[in-house]
Amino acid sequence: MAKIRIQDISGGNIEICRELCNELMTYQADKSHFRTDVLQEMTFDNRLKPSFESAQMKKVLVAFDGDTPVGYVYAEVSDVTEDLKYYVPDWASSIYEKGQLIFYPDEQKLPSRLGTFNNIYIKPQYQGLKLGYQLSNEVIEWMKSMEGITGIYVYVSNGNEEVVDFYKRFGFEFSHEVFGGFITAYYKKV
Ligand SMILES: CC(C)(COP(=O)(O)OP(=O)(O)OC[C@H]1O[C@@H](n2cnc3c(N)ncnc32)[C@H](O)[C@@H]1OP(=O)(O)O)[C@@H](O)C(=O)NCCC(=O)NCCS
Repeated sequence: MAKIRIQDISGGNIEICRELCNELMTYQADKSHFRTDVLQEMTFDNRLKPSFESAQMKKVLVAFDGDTPVGYVYAEVSDVTEDLKYYVPDWASSIYEKGQLIFYPDEQKLPSRLGTFNNIYIKPQYQGLKLGYQLSNEVIEWMKSMEGITGIYVYVSNGNEEVVDFYKRFGFEFSHEVFGGFITAYYKKV
């Protein structure tokens, strides 16, 4: 294994993450036990690519072994408007039932600017080398450095609860169930 280098591709070619993102989507679908069909439909083309292209402020870090991408993290920071509280993305249209919480809890007054820790994935043979920690730490510090940000959400799909302890190490705590438990939101105040 060559020395791993981390590259910031936030202003560059998101295609680098295609294979890694598709592996993450498959991993999540395989773990899922509730509306697995919806997770099975998720791909680089319908999730990461459009999200990256429309994100206001974003950070994508990729870990390379030689020329091969072996892990990545994607986070974004966005200004929040009241309609975002009720926003149901296309992929969730078959899950959503009226009255369910979506991406923000009801009791919380919407802050004007939030961070979202969107994706992290390290190829299995590269796990346990502190790459996940390093990538997470860097994007969290980046989000914290953005003016006006008050908190960061991370969303965990059903069945992937084992990753929750990893996020808790960074100070994320349970916030609420999204779409009746299809995913669970964790929150970190900054
Ligand atoms: C979760 C993941 C990103 C962690 O990356 P990693 O490079 O293997 O983790 P690191 O080597 O940086 O570990 C950092 C610390 O977190 C701990 N840790 C790693 N994975 C953990 C997990 N799933 N639960 C609890 N702790 C975990 C490590 O033991 C280590 O602790 P230490 O500092 O006390 O030794 C990686 O396992 C992964 O890609 N998982 C599959 C994809 C996934 O679930 N992504 C999240 C989607 S919401």
